[in-house]
Amino acid sequence: MKTCIYPGSFDPITNGHLDIIKRASKVFDKVVVCMMINYDKKSTFSIEKRKEMIAKSTKDISNVEIDFFEGLLVDYAKKIECSIIVRGLRAISDFENELAMANLNNSLSDDIETIFFMSSTKHSFISSSMIRQVAALGGDVSEFVPAEILDDIKGSLI
Ligand code: PNS
Repeated sequence: MKTCIYPGSFDPITNGHLDIIKRASKVFDKVVVCMMINYDKKSTFSIEKRKEMIAKSTKDISNVEIDFFEGLLVDYAKKIECSIIVRGLRAISDFENELAMANLNNSLSDDIETIFFMSSTKHSFISSSMIRQVAALGGDVSEFVPAEILDDIKGSLI
């Protein structure tokens, strides 16, 4: 059974994330969407709320599992015995950081492979932080997040 981990902070999940999850779910038998801590970012939504939003958004995809892990991604990969990490690449500006992360993870654990899915053009500019900002300031984010979580993020904090 081919399993991949799709790690991220998902604060909150966006249509861009969902697109990667759907595409990965066609390539892998199981996609484990793992909420992790990005120590470079301040979080807005609680882990429970993020989990609930991912669950609502992925309810129709049968081979998705949701998890949370606090620690190194390579340690989580070892824990669940999975060596494939999936990440999305939105634009060339993502590349430098993603390359560093993939190389770092591979240096920490040499059986780890990172596979990139190119974001669809219509999602290439969406980020959780921009969505939080637009929602907090009363803007319409319905085009950018799954319909199921729209009410959850209305009036969210920046
Ligand atoms: O959605 P994000 O914020 O781009 O996801 C980044 C994330 C959470 C996958 C990354 O920060 C991460 O792997 N955090 C866990 C700690 C870790 O393993 N750090 C070393 C690699 S940066």
